[in-house]
Amino acid sequence: MRRSIGELLALAFAAVAASADCTGIKAISPKCSSKEAAFRRDYFYIGGEYVYEASFKSSIVSDQMYVEKLTPSNGVGQLYPLVLITVGVPLGAGWFNTPDNRKGWASYFVEKGSQVYILDIIAVGRSSQEDIAGYPMKIASTDTVTQNDYTAPQIIDPYPQSQNHTQWPGNGTRGDSIFDSFMFSMISLTSNATRGPSFLISHSAGATYPILMSDQCPSLIKGNINLEPGNTPFQNLGGSSTVPAVGRPSARPSGLTTTAIGYVPAINSSADLNTVTVGNDTATLRSCIMQVGPARKLPNIAKVPYVAFTGSASPHITYDQCTINYLIQAGGKPDWIKLGDIGIFGNGHFLYLEKNNLDIAAVVEKWIVKHAWPWFGMSRYHHVLEIRRDSACSVYTVAYSNQSVLFRSARTDTVMTAKASTIASTYNSGAGTLRMYTMHPTQPAEPTGRPEYYMNQLRAFATTDQVIGSTI
Ligand SMILES: *[C@@H]1O[C@H](CO)[C@@H](O)[C@H](O)[C@H]1NC(C)=O
Ligand SMILES: *[C@@H]1O[C@H](CO)[C@@H](O)[C@H](O)[C@H]1NC(C)=O
Ligand SMILES: *[C@@H]1O[C@H](CO)[C@@H](O)[C@H](O)[C@H]1NC(C)=O
Ligand SMILES: *[C@@H]1O[C@H](CO)[C@@H](O)[C@H](O)[C@H]1NC(C)=O
Ligand SMILES: *[C@@H]1O[C@H](CO)[C@@H](O)[C@H](O)[C@H]1NC(C)=O
Ligand SMILES: *[C@@H]1O[C@H](CO)[C@@H](O)[C@H](O)[C@H]1NC(C)=O
Repeated sequence: MRRSIGELLALAFAAVAASADCTGIKAISPKCSSKEAAFRRDYFYIGGEYVYEASFKSSIVSDQMYVEKLTPSNGVGQLYPLVLITVGVPLGAGWFNTPDNRKGWASYFVEKGSQVYILDIIAVGRSSQEDIAGYPMKIASTDTVTQNDYTAPQIIDPYPQSQNHTQWPGNGTRGDSIFDSFMFSMISLTSNATRGPSFLISHSAGATYPILMSDQCPSLIKGNINLEPGNTPFQNLGGSSTVPAVGRPSARPSGLTTTAIGYVPAINSSADLNTVTVGNDTATLRSCIMQVGPARKLPNIAKVPYVAFTGSASPHITYDQCTINYLIQAGGKPDWIKLGDIGIFGNGHFLYLEKNNLDIAAVVEKWIVKHAWPWFGMSRYHHVLEIRRDSACSVYTVAYSNQSVLFRSARTDTVMTAKASTIASTYNSGAGTLRMYTMHPTQPAEPTGRPEYYMNQLRAFATTDQVIGSTI
């Protein structure tokens, strides 16, 4: 059979692509195609200002925050966008494909029709800050901390559950290409992590920011989803302090944050918080620092729906109860989903990157649908025409406009348009009037509900005609 040169080239290319190893960094090869969802990607710097630097005799820009916006190629189908927040250790980039080049959470939620924003919080990664004196640089994580605390705690066996850590791709130690690619995504951060904006799937130390935002602007936050919250009250239990005898450095004098938050009754300084260590400190279950009762409340933070997710083989399974119990003591009603309790086993700290990352995304999605209903919903509000800074709250919010349209029911997963979809008519033979109506469905009032249908009468146009035949 004769083939053109083009056909031969295409065949050769297909053969190479089929045999290419596209795991991890090897996916950089032009022969490998992406597993990411189809989206349009934009990036922005929001906030920021010129700061005069006497030594340069000119100004630099500081305090701008890097934001990426991913819009599903098939159109936006969800009422609320998701904002994915991490901090310090890997950058926002960690929400894209995983270190071994599987699909990440950004793609998962884009495929569900959600618009996704990914932030590098101010002073981290691609976001800048100019305050060398106030913000000395420090390392984000060493190879030892990463191995012992995140990717292979089972090797040093600091707590019994570590032996069940099976989900990290690769062997989790230096020299392994997946581990190395993960380490290379870690960027130094500043020592002050106290400022922050936006909405809400956060991992680890990133969980501090949604708490600040909840305190300042509870009405802007639909749900605060923390993956292994890193803001353990008053102390750090990560790294070497995973081992009880090794120590537990003080941290976050305001409990869940370094920055002062709105306790009731009010405090003048964090020294006014009376605390006590509660529980036995064992390798399986760590003790916690709680308030001495009667505890002060955190009414704004308590207003925001909250959930924490913890992996069954992560160091956090030994101490995330501290964060949950602290929130309960302060008047909150947090949910805590221990993945082991729902049949998802083997996860360590970076569960959103591990081998079963999309199974976990599906659990998070379920929580969103249940608690932040209507996340899926028909809306008069179309997505995101501007991001604006709300100076009263010092946070950035996403502004909507009343434009409308897609409706995806969580129950049926069908897509309907809020535009008039059906024309109906009534004929009143007594009055001799024919009326026409458009019909459109509206979102159910609750996840298990049924859509309702609304009818709007059309303006009448007088017509004169006659029946021209009958149909069966
Ligand atoms: C940052 O933290 C250091 C101590 O770690 C403190 O001295 C400094 O005042 C802080 N800067 C700001 C802007 O909060
Ligand atoms: C490890 O997993 C097994 C099987 O699920 C379970 O029986 C065991 O209790 C777990 N060990 C720890 C220390 O959590
Ligand atoms: C992990 O894999 C790397 C690369 O293959 C190898 O050099 C290293 O010895 C392995 N480490 C362990 C603990 O298996
Ligand atoms: C805070 O300061 C005010 C004024 O000095 C004082 O009346 C109040 O008791 C202080 N509150 C606490 C909790 O110490
Ligand atoms: C703590 O340990 C002691 C001694 O083993 C025991 O008597 C006590 O019940 C434990 N407390 C809790 C809260 O588990
Ligand atoms: C947008 O819709 C809301 C809810 O129906 C309404 O209260 C508001 O006035 C509308 N805004 C504009 C600019 O049309």
